[in-house]
Amino acid sequence: MNITRAANVMLTDPSHTRLEYAPEFAHGSAYVNGTFCSIDEASVPITDGGFMQADAAYDVVSVSKGFFFRLEDHLERFESACKKFYLRSPYDKNETTEILNKLVTLAGTREAYVWWAVTRGPTPAKRTDPNSYNNRFYAFAIPYRFIASDEQRERGLELLVSKRYIRIPPDSVDPTAKNFLWMDLKLSLFEAGEQGREWTVLCDAQGNLTEGPGVNIFFIKHGELFTPDSGCLEGITRKTTLELAAELGMPVHVKPVTADELRDADEAFITSTAGGIMPVNSVDGIILGGESGPGALTTKLHNLYWSRRWDGWLGTKVNYGE
Ligand SMILES: Cc1ncc(COP(=O)(O)O)c(C=O)c1O
Repeated sequence: MNITRAANVMLTDPSHTRLEYAPEFAHGSAYVNGTFCSIDEASVPITDGGFMQADAAYDVVSVSKGFFFRLEDHLERFESACKKFYLRSPYDKNETTEILNKLVTLAGTREAYVWWAVTRGPTPAKRTDPNSYNNRFYAFAIPYRFIASDEQRERGLELLVSKRYIRIPPDSVDPTAKNFLWMDLKLSLFEAGEQGREWTVLCDAQGNLTEGPGVNIFFIKHGELFTPDSGCLEGITRKTTLELAAELGMPVHVKPVTADELRDADEAFITSTAGGIMPVNSVDGIILGGESGPGALTTKLHNLYWSRRWDGWLGTKVNYGE
């Protein structure tokens, strides 16, 4: 079985290609301070705590073939992140959904990466009361982007387990609340780049795997699927993968797992809204399963993910106002 060339399908298949859009929305659309604009015009007030101190909660949902995927799950995760960080969105779920629909419509895309955030806003005199902050809402929609291209997914990514950085501990910042604190993740990517690797995964202080930049980590050993139970975002693609694996009859283990177990795995992959299920070829230079390329079960999960998506599974049709 070959890896589905999903990016190519999105670019070429008439049921995926872009709808009409005004020229100013060629790169995407945005919503800032209650106003829609092109993404090229969108800007952030420089004193916003989201910009100055990474003080924000955010989420990202994808659209494929004109359907949001698991929109309600994303909206719920976002609401829960706001609660955990004492942030208040000015919009409820229905109003947020309306904004996201409008953004995708303006961008005229049936394959979209749709981002939204609530930031703390400027710092008021009374810093100790979260209610005295004027929280702000931002959002944008751009054509869909893959963390790993068709070519990379076909051959599998070269993954590094970061040796320089551990993931920010859950007792410092709750990783289940999607947030802007990415310095550990970003610097680990530069560490990977120095070694000719393409993506990373970070451990916690106890040496257990957590997650990577924008991704959850999975591995397969003797046909069984493993993923960390804590120290990571509860990714919507992770949840989807666990469901698809169960459907394929794979035993699934959500538990503490180590870098040694990952290096010794038969197959591995990372998951994200920005790319779905992305096969790993090697970990720290060790080719998994002793054979180059994505493993058979990873390929099965990868292709099942996209075929389900394109059947409209757990999808909410974008309201293009047609
Ligand atoms: C730190 C982190 N972990 C995991 C993920 C994957 O989550 P999802 O599948 O919901 O995109 C993301 C997504 O951006 C992330 O930022």
